[in-house]
Amino acid sequence: MDKRIETQRLILGDAVAEMRQLSAKSVDLIVTDPPYNLGKDYGNSSDDLIFEDYLSWTKSWLFEADRVLKDDGTLYIFMGVRYISYLYNILERDMGYHFNSWITWYYTQGIGKTKGFSPRHDDILMFTKSKKFNFYLDNIRVPQKYYRSINNMRGANPSNVWEFSHVHYSQKSRENHPTQKPEGLYERMILASSKENDVVLDPFVGSGTALRVTQQLNRQGIGIEKNGAFIDLIEKRLMQSFTGFDSIDARLERVPNDLNDKEVRMTYVKNHVAWFLKNHQDSVDDFIKSVMKKYKNKIDNEEWEFLSSYSKYAHPKQISLF
Ligand SMILES: C[S@@+](CC[C@H](N)C(=O)[O-])C[C@H]1O[C@@H](n2cnc3c(N)ncnc32)[C@H](O)[C@@H]1O
Repeated sequence: MDKRIETQRLILGDAVAEMRQLSAKSVDLIVTDPPYNLGKDYGNSSDDLIFEDYLSWTKSWLFEADRVLKDDGTLYIFMGVRYISYLYNILERDMGYHFNSWITWYYTQGIGKTKGFSPRHDDILMFTKSKKFNFYLDNIRVPQKYYRSINNMRGANPSNVWEFSHVHYSQKSRENHPTQKPEGLYERMILASSKENDVVLDPFVGSGTALRVTQQLNRQGIGIEKNGAFIDLIEKRLMQSFTGFDSIDARLERVPNDLNDKEVRMTYVKNHVAWFLKNHQDSVDDFIKSVMKKYKNKIDNEEWEFLSSYSKYAHPKQISLF
């Protein structure tokens, strides 16, 4: 067992009925990916409602979500193109929530269209319950492209377009669920909008991606799922050992140009691993290898030793890296 499985609460049941059992204003953050009503088979006919029924149902679960969310809480909701404008209206006009960001999850592989443009994004709406809310930008910065003494080397805002691959069927972390999302997406939302020990709710937890992330980030996760087969799968998923989330924004592995001074470079590398690869232990080797490749003509023995201490690669003279 890895970390604090007991702080993750997994509930088998209907999202609306189960949220009714939660105390009012007890949740700091809601991050969720409800059925998009596109006829996916979740084993419970939840994804095939007539248009108006889907909107009424959306309002009913959002009513409970609003009740349990704290006044300074934040809500992130995944949605497909067909209903996203309706969802936006419900949040802003019916519920009086405050729009913050429309995030586009961009992926490079997906279904192909022969008449029309092949879809390559899903979207996430971020709204806050009031104007007073927390946003922890330092937790989610991405590395700069260039070293400049005037640049904030702590990193840049990742913007509202996020590129992550789908969890591929060949990946070890792929679960038997039709719409499993990459953990990297949840990592960013949860780090941006909660702090350790906060309560994070996903009322449509599916294969448990949200709980896997809250578990590793030391948040108290609550996940609700209607299909019992997925509950079994999540319990197993939460017992797996952790070597990093199953997906990473490629920018987190990027080595800035112009790190020409040895002392600056060594300090930067140490910080980069601590800031950007904290939850991606299994990416550290590749990052160090990229540093070695990029700066190989400037690196002396002391620095090779320093870099090798982070890496499974031995001293570069003994290996055929370059
Ligand atoms: C889009 S999937 C979530 C996928 C999830 N983000 C992941 O990464 O695995 C939606 C999930 O909601 C569940 N669901 C549908 N209707 C529900 C309801 N009324 N209450 C609770 N869960 C429901 C489905 O069984 C499905 O697993």
